[in-house]
Amino acid sequence: MYFKITTHSAEETAAVARKIASFLRPQDVVLLKGDLGAGKSIFARALIQSLCGEVSEVPSPTFTLVQIYEGSDFDIWHFDLYRVTHPDEICELGIEEAYATSVSVIEWPERLGKNVPREYLEIEFNYGSHENERVLTFRGWTDRPM
Ligand SMILES: Nc1ncnc2c1ncn2[C@@H]1O[C@H](COP(=O)(O)OP(=O)(O)OP(=O)(O)O)[C@@H](O)[C@H]1O
Ligand SMILES: [Mg+2]
Repeated sequence: MYFKITTHSAEETAAVARKIASFLRPQDVVLLKGDLGAGKSIFARALIQSLCGEVSEVPSPTFTLVQIYEGSDFDIWHFDLYRVTHPDEICELGIEEAYATSVSVIEWPERLGKNVPREYLEIEFNYGSHENERVLTFRGWTDRPM
């Protein structure tokens, strides 16, 4: 799969995230790539809230590296690997359990090293030509009709 979506506000990016959330099931992995401030966390927050209810607070797991949320049908593991220096740290977070049982949402997947999952949906966030414009590029999910 390969396509691009241009959004013009954080709310539009959140709406795309809610749409993607509706396709997710256990063992899915969503990789969020892109520069600082590109919109990864906005996207992750909207996706998690859409699966877990608006009540859940979604802090960026910049320091804890992972935050686990209980959805109605499955758990969502939200990783932010920005501060990871060695792939072994990621094993210790229990990423194999996340891959096996839950939905995984991973910011800064460039740090995964040997922990890259077999199948995933990758979304790359790029700045557009206007202040609030972002271009989202979707790749992967070769086996998934959408
Ligand atoms: N179209 C858009 N989509 C998403 N965010 C947007 C958009 N336009 C403006 N913004 C703003 O850009 C910022 C995106 O911040 P966010 O924390 O999601 O980035 P990030 O990719 O997680 O960065 P970091 O790597 O630093 O954690 C927010 O302040 C948001 O309001
Ligand atoms: Mg972020």
